[in-house]
Amino acid sequence: MLAKDFCWGASLSAHQTEGAATEDGKSPSVQDCRVRDDQIADFTVASDHYHRYREDIKLLAGLGIKALRISLPWTRIIPAGVGATNPSAIAHYRDVFATMHAYKIEPMVTMYHFDLPQNLQDQGGWTQRQTVDAYARYARVLFENFGDQVKYWLTINEPNIMLLADQKILGFTYTHQERYQAFYHLMIAEKKAFALCHQLLPQAQIGPVPNISYVYPGSAAPQDIRAAEYFNAVRNWAYLDFSVQGRLNPLFQNYLRQTGIDLQILPEDQELVTTNFPDFLGINYYTSVTVEYPKQDQDRLSGVSDQQSEDVYEKGFYKGLTNPYLQKNDFNWTIDPLGLQTTLEVINDRYQLPIYITENGLGAYDELTADHQVHDPYRIDYLKQHLQSIQQAVASGVPVKGYLPWSALDLVSVHEGMRKRYGLIYVDRTEQDLKDLARYPKDSYYWYQQVIAKRGVDE
Ligand code: BG6
Repeated sequence: MLAKDFCWGASLSAHQTEGAATEDGKSPSVQDCRVRDDQIADFTVASDHYHRYREDIKLLAGLGIKALRISLPWTRIIPAGVGATNPSAIAHYRDVFATMHAYKIEPMVTMYHFDLPQNLQDQGGWTQRQTVDAYARYARVLFENFGDQVKYWLTINEPNIMLLADQKILGFTYTHQERYQAFYHLMIAEKKAFALCHQLLPQAQIGPVPNISYVYPGSAAPQDIRAAEYFNAVRNWAYLDFSVQGRLNPLFQNYLRQTGIDLQILPEDQELVTTNFPDFLGINYYTSVTVEYPKQDQDRLSGVSDQQSEDVYEKGFYKGLTNPYLQKNDFNWTIDPLGLQTTLEVINDRYQLPIYITENGLGAYDELTADHQVHDPYRIDYLKQHLQSIQQAVASGVPVKGYLPWSALDLVSVHEGMRKRYGLIYVDRTEQDLKDLARYPKDSYYWYQQVIAKRGVDE
């Protein structure tokens, strides 16, 4: 059983759920603009959460959750990314937060979840220092307008995945050098948010929200162990070491040197980086990654990963491979609950900060029956095994303070559109057919309700 004050919750992001992409003064973000296969749903309507948030929050309150993680869309609040704020967006989200509080649900707010204003992207996006300044201004606007309603802030969703993922999916394409410069700017932007939050909202807490999975070596061969250490440094520790310890990870620095990357670092960064730190860690976890030393050079010069799967490669450093000990989900992601426990233990060993699991869940093909039920035992299995792992980690001394699975309701998957569903609540639409967008709790919803009531799962 987990502690009485354990924070049971659920997670969403704005661009994947809200829709209303051109309403209420919203401008396009890189997510609205990226061109996808015609078969994949876009974000114009998504799950229509922008219009149905009251109904959704009420339904989620029925789970007994204490927290709901949502993200705020930068281009609704400051449509051009810089310049004027949009009063009707501020009023909208003040009502969203008031509705959550009416149901005793604490908002946990991701300030930016992949949806950079397209206007900033057109000027170079995160490769440019001015985007750091724009983000800092946006952070100030959020703290000033919602600081009385929101206690828990998350800076930037998964900057490490923004570095590694197929960048077309994320709405931009950078060169190798630009990619790492953008990563550095994201890390600096986060530090500015820590500083501002602590200055303006001393009662609030703020943390990073990377996607962390401990990287395994493919074998006991010393070169494979080194490959795993390097990919751990690039994928996991570069970001968290900078955020929590204010240092550039040495293996990461060596990797940068050897791949010919020269980061532009300003003298004034030093003080910012070494004096501003998070209060807690938000950790997203879906799968683990296994790598080996690349024996032959491949066609590609450097690695672009399909987000979290095996498609990772960096010449002379590491290459992803299929882990023969693990099963996969319908979308080729390995399922590794024990990997979550290991990941949590290693994170705790390195950083000793309270941890909230801010994303964890199973993307699957769900079917709505004629009597409006969704039987998703596969999702229940996945969530149960990961919760068992969390309970074991807590028993071994890791301060996990909350669990906010992905996702509260069905949403548009970043890679796969509407066909890959994560929700505890079904949203009745398909890729192309919007139907009536009605909400139906899945079996996993009722299961999670019981888990919350019992404060955990059986070991
Ligand atoms: C996380 C993102 O990395 O992965 C979510 O924060 C995303 O936004 C989730 O939905 C699952 O990825 P996908 O591609 O299956 O939607």
